[in-house]
Amino acid sequence: MYAKRLLWQETGNDELLAEAADILKAGGLVAIPTETVYGLAADATNGEAVARIFEAKGRPRFNPLIAHVADTAMAGRCGELKGDALRLAAHFWPGPLTLVVPLVVPLAGEAAVHPLVTAGQKNIALRRPIGPTAELIARFGRPLAAPSANRSGQLSPTSADHVLEQLGDRIDAVIDAGPCTVGLESTIVAISDEAPRLLRPGGLAAEAIEELLDRRLQRLAPGAHVEAPGMLASHYAPRAALRLNAARVEAGEALLAFGEKSPENAAAAVASRNLSATGDLVEAASRLFSDLHALDESGAAVIAVAPIPSHGLGEAIADRLRRAAAPRPGLGASD
Ligand code: TXA
Ligand code: MG
Repeated sequence: MYAKRLLWQETGNDELLAEAADILKAGGLVAIPTETVYGLAADATNGEAVARIFEAKGRPRFNPLIAHVADTAMAGRCGELKGDALRLAAHFWPGPLTLVVPLVVPLAGEAAVHPLVTAGQKNIALRRPIGPTAELIARFGRPLAAPSANRSGQLSPTSADHVLEQLGDRIDAVIDAGPCTVGLESTIVAISDEAPRLLRPGGLAAEAIEELLDRRLQRLAPGAHVEAPGMLASHYAPRAALRLNAARVEAGEALLAFGEKSPENAAAAVASRNLSATGDLVEAASRLFSDLHALDESGAAVIAVAPIPSHGLGEAIADRLRRAAAPRPGLGASD
């Protein structure tokens, strides 16, 4: 497979949009132009498609992804847009601003995006971009999860050629709309009950935001280098302790299995889930957060986790499990 280049024209992009939407509907990956940098997009409601983003980037961690939306109404179905968040959205969208707000979880049902998009967190990053991508999302009718379209550890791409150099053999298509006008990632602001926080400086000046809100944004310590602001926020961590690489299930434990082979004594588990009965790491990644939630709800004090292969997405899965297993000082009511 080599990515198809879909050339954006001044007018008459109907066929192009239909083709890109079809790829996304089928769970494929399309690199999308935005005013900031090119993104690597998948259907945000499709866990396996989102898992393929991490696979294509070779990203060893599941940090949360920005959900790109077509308009404020779609954003409001994903996250709580009110107060300062609504004011910022009304004033700066579409544009290089990402808002991190509480995830909307309808009373009956599931959140508007797959849990892999938010890495299991209760906050979601939302952005309404300028240009062809907004049209694509409107046409597709669902949010697109997209990190920058670079391989892990490499530079963010500001042209379709950059994307193809890094990911051409790993994605289905790129919409080529020429060079990005801003060329710098979006500014990320978190809005919660506390003071608004600048998580990542970017294409929209923090001063413009402060002027609109008439208050100062909280910043990280000067010089602090944050590769992934989402890693700072409190990630979903199960209440239960995790016992990794379990070859055997002990009495009272829940089981998170992987593949055909069950650990010894698996029948004793008080609850059990299999990340992928066929041993498919893409499927496993897409189920990780929901399976952990489900096992946690069983009330078991310990979740025994079967060994997971360390290649491909297995590395990111293992990273997430290690973080969930690590002792968490002070974890309590707020989580
Ligand atoms: O301009 C941009 O923002 C580009 C274009 C494609 O939209 N996207 C982008 O995505 O830069 P990415 O994944 O390379 O960087 C997004 C950052 C990550 O560092 C992630 O940790 C953070 O946003 N993030 C995503 N969701 C978050 C959340 N719920 N809470 C806190 N941080 C979050
Ligand atoms: Mg990036």
